[in-house]
Amino acid sequence: MVKVGIIGAGFMGTMHATVYSQFPDVKVAGIADVRGEKAKSLAEKFKSIPYYSPEELLKREDITIIDICLPTFLHREYVVKAASLGKDVICEKPIALTVEEADEMIKVCAEKKVRFMVAQVLRFWPEYRFLKEVYDRKRYGALRTISCQRLSAPPAWGWQNWLMAGERSGGALVDLHIHDTDFLLYLTGCRPEKISSHGRAENGAYSHIFTHFVFPGGVIAQVEGGWDLPANYPFIMAYTANFEKAVVEFNSRSNPTVTVYEASGKIERPSFETKRANGVEGNISDLGGYYFELRYFIEHVTHNKPFGVITPEQARESLATVLEEKKSADTGQAIFL
Ligand SMILES: NC(=O)c1ccc[n+]([C@@H]2O[C@H](COP(=O)([O-])OP(=O)(O)OC[C@H]3O[C@@H](n4cnc5c(N)ncnc54)[C@H](O)[C@@H]3O)[C@@H](O)[C@H]2O)c1
Repeated sequence: MVKVGIIGAGFMGTMHATVYSQFPDVKVAGIADVRGEKAKSLAEKFKSIPYYSPEELLKREDITIIDICLPTFLHREYVVKAASLGKDVICEKPIALTVEEADEMIKVCAEKKVRFMVAQVLRFWPEYRFLKEVYDRKRYGALRTISCQRLSAPPAWGWQNWLMAGERSGGALVDLHIHDTDFLLYLTGCRPEKISSHGRAENGAYSHIFTHFVFPGGVIAQVEGGWDLPANYPFIMAYTANFEKAVVEFNSRSNPTVTVYEASGKIERPSFETKRANGVEGNISDLGGYYFELRYFIEHVTHNKPFGVITPEQARESLATVLEEKKSADTGQAIFL
């Protein structure tokens, strides 16, 4: 039985605790949150011990894994604290707000010889895994173009409304849209060679961004991410991947979610394993991606296997790329990497 401590009992802390409760080999042994009542109610639900102070939780020697579900501006501080005490760490995406913070986190985790994974969940999301597999196996030939979309109402659930404060979250560009940037880097296995972005700024950060990427080899991607839609706008994530011999289309609002239109005329609708969350509120009602992500983390830590799907360096690279997108949107100039 491996003992996990969760720091941050908000939206993602609740999601992670719910997922761990489905793993027979994991015990959430402590949950810390500055909002004591949040820690208490989540700990009661999962028969854990609540802490008001993360430092008190970190003192627990029986807890070997720390799961950081804190607002992004606190990631560096608590990843470094946990790693310094020899804990293995999983941290919610994005890794941090700046590349310098990310570098420090990676360095300390390496020096302390602890395992460190950043929860870039799309790499584990069934419909995105399907696309990665199709791409890698060249099932429909080479990928020519891809468009990705991620849109939502303003995220109003956060503690002290931190998501809407640009200096704390990086806005929709760094918090929301990084999902698609990270996935495209994973999909293609490389950084784009050209980036051109335009965005709408609000509260000191981009709340809506449009980016064109050109990848080495010629794949062109168009990506839209925004959280400035009306409060009643239902969350959507989608992609249209245009291969030589088929289009693979995903839309989180469709059922089934994925349709493959083959050039031969055949139409396929693959189905995916889902895991339903009980009582988890948020824009996603499936545990699927989170389940597979945390299962991967736990198995790789307990069996001491290297992380092949997402390394801390790759999470840093994704952050660096969205910061290049910011530069392009700020200056109106394309960026050549
Ligand atoms: N992978 C995804 O799909 C996804 C979705 C949403 C959020 N996230 C990420 O998860 C992280 C957390 O976001 P969230 O939506 O859960 O935010 P949230 O505001 O719902 O939760 C954060 C919690 O941290 C607590 N907190 C704040 N400062 C603290 C401190 N110093 N010590 C202890 N607790 C403290 C708050 O009280 C709050 O309960 C962010 O990095 C965000 O980008 C990822």
